[in-house]
Parts: sequence; C-alpha cells; structure tokens
Amino acid sequence: MREVKSLFDGLQHIVRPDEPLAPHTWFHVGGPAEYFVEPSNTEELQTVVQRCQESSVPIRTLGSGSNLLVPDAGVDGVVLRLSHEHFCSIEIQDDLARVGGGAKLGHVITASVRDGLAGLESLVGIPGTIGGALNGNAGTRAGDIGQWTCQATVMTRLGEIHTRQKEDLFFAYRQSSLDELVILDAMFQLERENPEELTKRMQKQWIVKNANQPSANQRAGCIFKNPRGMSAGMLIDQAGLKGTRVGQAEISEVHGNFIVAGEGATSEDIRQLIEQVRHRIAERLGVELETEINIW
Ligand code: EPU
Repeated sequence: MREVKSLFDGLQHIVRPDEPLAPHTWFHVGGPAEYFVEPSNTEELQTVVQRCQESSVPIRTLGSGSNLLVPDAGVDGVVLRLSHEHFCSIEIQDDLARVGGGAKLGHVITASVRDGLAGLESLVGIPGTIGGALNGNAGTRAGDIGQWTCQATVMTRLGEIHTRQKEDLFFAYRQSSLDELVILDAMFQLERENPEELTKRMQKQWIVKNANQPSANQRAGCIFKNPRGMSAGMLIDQAGLKGTRVGQAEISEVHGNFIVAGEGATSEDIRQLIEQVRHRIAERLGVELETEINIW
C-alpha cells in the first residue's frame, strides 16, 4: 500500500483503504480497491484527482456497478464513488432536468415522469447512475439518453472542470464523447406530456423489459454490444449457448446476452464465460462480439 498520509492528507474521512468492491457491483464479485474514496464535495474530489495525477496513482470511477466486472485480485489505486448527496441532486424546472452525475437513472426517470416530462421513460429499468448512463449512452430500441442531453459538466483526469454544450457532445450506439474521469452533472431537455399517459407508457415498457430480460434482483448483467443490425442475445441463443456455464457463472436462459452469477461465482468464472461465448460465436457464426460491460 502507498503512503496514505501525503496522498490523502486532510481527506482521511472520505477514504477507506482495502474496501471490498464485490458488494458495490451487481455481479457481487471482485476483490478490493486499494483506496475507496467518496468525496463529499467537488473541491475534495478535485484534490484527490489532482494528487493522484501528480503521484501517478491509478484512478477509476465506480457508478452503481451494474455494468462492471472487477477482477478477483481487486484494483490498485483509487476507486471514486459519487455517492454523496452533493453529486446526486435532481432539479426540475420547466422542461429541463438538471441532475448530478451520481444520481440514479431510475430516480431521474421517476422524477421527470411525475412532473410530466417525457423522454427518459423509455430507459425505464436500466440500472446505473447518470454518469454511467451518459458515458455508455445507455438506451433501448426506443431511444437513448444522449438524445435528451443538452449539457454536461465533467472533471478530467487532470482535475479540470469543463462544461460541454449539446453541439460539442457526440452520442452513438453505446458510445459517447463523455469519456472523462467524472461526469459531475448533466442537463436534459425534455418534452411536456400528460403524466398519466406517460406513466402508462413507462409501465408498458417496464412489463416488456421484465418479460424479456433476467429480473433486476438477480446477479445478472448484459455482456455484449449488439453487432450492427443484429441482436447479440439472439446470436447466442441461435448458437445454442444459453445455459452454458463456467464455474458458477451461467448464460441466462431468459436472454442470451445476460450472464447470471450464482452463489460462489468468481470474476474469473464470468471472464472465462465471456471469452468462451465470444470464441464460439466467432467460430460458429463468423461474428466478432464486442463487450458492453466494463472490465477493470
Ligand atoms: N432473442 C432471442 N433469444 C434471446 C434474446 C433475444 O431469440 O435469448 C430475440 C428476441 O426474441 C427478439 C430479438 O432477439 O426477436 C431482439 O431481442 P431484444 O428485443 O431483447 O433486444 P436486444 O437486441 O437483445 C437490445 C438492447 C437492450 C434493450 C433491448 C430492448 C443491446 C446490447 N441490447 O437488446 O439493452 O433493453 O434492445 O430495447 O443493445 C443493454 O444494452 O444493456 C440492454 C439490455
């Protein structure tokens, strides 16, 4: 372990050394972070980022761990989490929602639908934080988060803060130009609609999702991006790979693009299962699958 004193001088209250990361991820696997840091304001965050930069300490940001595979050995350096309320605000004014990067996407959807603002409801049931959703441009066939984003403020790996307007942002399928270390906040321009209609539409979408994907209380995650014009889940299903296991990790019987981690599963089980599926799909169907999940 590094010299904690100088790196975190005056910031010890926000640092937890050797913090197990498994409970912070949906798969519940993976080892500890050398330092787990939950800043309580932007100044503390900036100080940590700048000191890590000066001392060449690796630094990563954890959202809600729903799209993440942490290695069994854990990770060196700092893992940041924006769980403090300072980073999780949700403010709605007219047709604009201004939200912190640490806010849960689900909370933002609920708040906007309640206020009769349409747009984000098509993302219902997608786990994760606003920062994570923007970074990977989370979406469904009905739309993605990028199309509603009109502004975002980020902190770079140097600790600089920049605000980007809509015209400077780029979003594509599960891709965005918001790839800096931290997304501090974002603004969404939404559309006024009758809250009852909106709620009905959201519920419908929720029912479809629930019927077609593993339930949110399973230790499950979506693994691959859809190759152009195809569904990764359908390809995996067609190749007869549903139910394939490595250790306690299994390809979901409900949807082929999800891995479910059983009791006692390790990160290595999941990683090997991903490789096996990728290899077999390339061999049998000639398609190279690319992972959607972040692998640390
Ligand atoms: N299908 C199968 N077997 C399977 C899974 C799917 O035959 O095991 C078939 C379905 O019956 C359907 C087609 O494949 O005819 C497409 O399936 P689905 O509607 O589930 O869509 P998808 O392409 O597999 C994408 C997104 C999901 C999003 C849904 C609905 C990706 C990787 N997946 O899935 O998003 O919820 O559309 O909009 O882009 C995610 O990105 O993490 C994610 C889950």
